[in-house]
Amino acid sequence: MQTIRRLAELRSALSAFRDAGEDIALVPTMGALHAGHMALVAEAKLAARRVVVSIFVNPRQFGANEDLSRYPRKELADARMLSEAGVDVLWMPPVEEVYPDGFATNVSVSGISEGLDGAARPGHFDGVATVVAKLFNQVRPDVALFGEKDFQQLAVIRRMVVDLDFGIDIRGVPTQRDDDGLALSSRNAYLIAEDRAKAVALPRALGVAATAIGKGTDPAEALATARETLTAAGFSVDYVELVDAETLGEPFPGRPRRLLAAAKIAGTRLIDNIAVNEQG
Ligand code: PAF
Repeated sequence: MQTIRRLAELRSALSAFRDAGEDIALVPTMGALHAGHMALVAEAKLAARRVVVSIFVNPRQFGANEDLSRYPRKELADARMLSEAGVDVLWMPPVEEVYPDGFATNVSVSGISEGLDGAARPGHFDGVATVVAKLFNQVRPDVALFGEKDFQQLAVIRRMVVDLDFGIDIRGVPTQRDDDGLALSSRNAYLIAEDRAKAVALPRALGVAATAIGKGTDPAEALATARETLTAAGFSVDYVELVDAETLGEPFPGRPRRLLAAAKIAGTRLIDNIAVNEQG
């Protein structure tokens, strides 16, 4: 695996792949890799001949009072995992290589970025769209893979790729979970054992609500119950919402629906989501 920190070097490594007629898959990450990321890498290896993984803790997607400075950084362990998984290139640029002096461009995907996490974290999805657009232009992949755990992020990126004619095949990979159902996340590392045990209430509350809605329970009632359950388990709830799975707007009968939630436990903000399967 080549570990590359400068854009000129990245371009020459990727040109060699393209000149040999090899297609490229990109897995963008912020590092602190876990089995969820490695599932993206496994899919990437199936999707293209060459796999590039980026590790860049993107300052533009963190709000002023968020966890940028304490976000976990594990470069050596990450590089070892990626090398063992057969990744071809680890793209690990320093901040000035991504945002050089004078950088003044913002990519903003309106509508789909505005509710849910966009409302709770103003500017977050502009930061994500801006860095992902940069990574797409730097790597110019044929395919890029993102986890469904960040369901709104995936929808924002899909919209951006269509709107800006990137011509990249965007693939969502199902959420990887611990044995008890908690979605894998780099932020789970912040939880002490007691809070980690309580955190399982999040996927459980979503599962109960999704089953109830699928069987015909009034969504408002099921969502209220989920919020109450989470509050009783020690969470401070940002939102639990039922949305159209593609537009993330108002759900419509006959179209796929998704249940999304964000809630804080002991100051750590967790997100999760689940499909609602119609059983009526
Ligand atoms: O999902 C993430 O880890 C980040 O939001 C991403 C897509 C790498 C952009 O910084």
